[in-house]
Parts: sequence; C-alpha cells; structure tokens
Amino acid sequence: MKERIEEILKYTTDTLNKIDTSAECQNLRVEILGKNGKITQLFRFMKEVSPEEKQAMGQLLNTAKQEAERMISSKEVFLQNAELEEKLMKEKIDVTLDLNQEEVGALHPISIDFMRMAEILNGMGFSQIDGPEIDYDKYNFELVNVPKDHPSRDMQDSLYITSDILLRTQTSNTQPRAMEKIKPPFKVFSFGRVFRKDEIDATHTPAFYQLEGIYIDKKVSLADLKHDLSLILKKYLGESTKTKFRASYFPFTEPSVEVDAECNVCKGKGCSACKGAGQYEILGAGMIHPRVLEMNGIDPNVYSGYAFGFGFDRFPKMRYKIPNAKVMFENDVRFIKQFK
Ligand code: PHE
Repeated sequence: MKERIEEILKYTTDTLNKIDTSAECQNLRVEILGKNGKITQLFRFMKEVSPEEKQAMGQLLNTAKQEAERMISSKEVFLQNAELEEKLMKEKIDVTLDLNQEEVGALHPISIDFMRMAEILNGMGFSQIDGPEIDYDKYNFELVNVPKDHPSRDMQDSLYITSDILLRTQTSNTQPRAMEKIKPPFKVFSFGRVFRKDEIDATHTPAFYQLEGIYIDKKVSLADLKHDLSLILKKYLGESTKTKFRASYFPFTEPSVEVDAECNVCKGKGCSACKGAGQYEILGAGMIHPRVLEMNGIDPNVYSGYAFGFGFDRFPKMRYKIPNAKVMFENDVRFIKQFK
C-alpha cells in the first residue's frame, strides 16, 4: 500500500509538471481524488487491512490525500491567475485617440483684435469688467437716462424676453452696473455681444460686438475724452490714421460726439468697404450726463466722467477684408483656421 501511495503521489507530481491549463488540473483532481480516483480507490482496501495496521494506514492515506490536493490546488491557482491576466491583456481597450497634431485651433479674428485693444487700454490704466448679455431694462435703458417713452428706444430695436428683461442692445448697460459696484474714481472697460432686431445682410447681424470705456473722477473733461480717444485710436488703427470728432446725441452723454475714421482700405477715396464714403463711423462717446451720475448714486457736483462705445466687428472685418458679417458668428473652422 505504501509503495502504491508513493507511486500515485509521484504520478501526480509528474503530471502537474507537464500541465499548463487550470482545466487539466481539474481533470487530474478527478483522476486522483474523484469518486473513482486513484487514492479514493485505495480507501476501499482499508476493509482488508488488519486491525493493527488500520490506524497507521488510515493516517498515511489521509496525509496522501491532503498532499495530492495541496499540490493540485497550488498549481491550479497559479494557472488560473496567469489565465486571468492573459484574458485581461487581450481585452484591454485603448482609450487614447491618435490626434492629427497639425490640427491646432486658431483665435477668432474678433478675439485677436480685442486682445490688442485690451492691451492698449490696460496700458492706459483701464481695467476690464463684465456685464450680462441678458439684462434688466433698468440697466440697459432706464439708468442710462432712456425712460420707457423715450424716442431713442426706436433707434435700438430691442429683443425682449419678458416685459422688463431683454438681450442688451448696448454694452452701456455696464455703466450703471459699474457705478453700482465701484466707488469713483475708476477707469474701466467692458467687451461683449449686444443684440438688436436686424435682418442679416452683408453688414448687419442681429448680434454684434461692442466695447465700452468708462472713466469717472473729479474734473474729468471733454479734453480728457478727446485726448484719450485719439491716443487709443492712434495705437489701435495706426499713427497715420485720420480721425474726425463731430457733435452727436446720446441720451446718456452731454455733450455727445461721434468719431469717424478714414477708411483704411481706400485711404479716403471711397470704396465698397466704406460704401463710397471714404470714412466710417467707429464710435459714440461723450461726457456722462449728470442725471446718469445722479441716478446711479454719484454726486455730479463732485464727479464727472466720460464714456465711449465702439462697434467692434468692423475692425477685423476691414483688416482681414471679410466681405460678409455673417461668417463672424458661424464659427466655421474653415473660416477661423485662416487666422493662425
Ligand atoms: N451705446 C451707444 C451705442 O450703442 C454708444 C455709446 C457708448 C455712446 C457710450 C456714448 C457713450 O450706440
């Protein structure tokens, strides 16, 4: 019996050395320890063993059974782990995407021009503020001296959301918003989209960009406005660009001015870009109306200020000779890619 046991254990070891799948381990287990397994069969001989030898034999068989199970299990666990690892390796999903590195985006021409303008204004002591594109009628109109029945509301056909909330028609909504938050003296600018009921054509879109500048301090005068605007325009449009200040009207400024610049495409001769005028209107400005200061909690006997507002789309349109205003808002990559 003892020899037979050793023989079976040796067979088990030899077979395990040749095996390389966990399924084969299971087969070997059945062969050795299953119902009709080699060791199980030996237990059946116990009946024939003499009573003196029974205990020792029993122990020997049980030890052999445990030893066989231990050897098979340890190889089986080892192979199962290896098999799992291999399976995971095969199932691995590559989540990376091979990007075409040449496809780097570009800045929108409006962003490029705005960054240039922001640098000029920062250099002159203006800091940037922001105002909402959807605003109360109060900020867009009333607090800049445009009461409900004022005729100038017709100048700016507005897109209302409710009876007192609208898409802002001008960045001048940042005037009362700035005065509400900041104590004078201050010098700020804001930039963003404004909206008016307009049919789309080559020069009109229902959304366009404006840039607003506001300066409030003791003794700010029209001379400061003229000086600062001339400087901004020289730096922005080029030293040689001719500009012209003329009297105008806005409900929130008194006196008011508009500034025309010589067309930089035809140099004043008249072309399609300036619709034959040789010049084009680039901004509205003026001394902030004392009533506006007062309505917004600033004493007009102590403080004065100026404000200016640029329509901002025109500059990149002229610089890059963009014939159609619509493309500025479509965000078509084929258009934007050209401004790298
Ligand atoms: N908000 C005016 C417009 O949209 C421009 C402007 C701004 C005029 C500031 C004067 C002062 O036409």
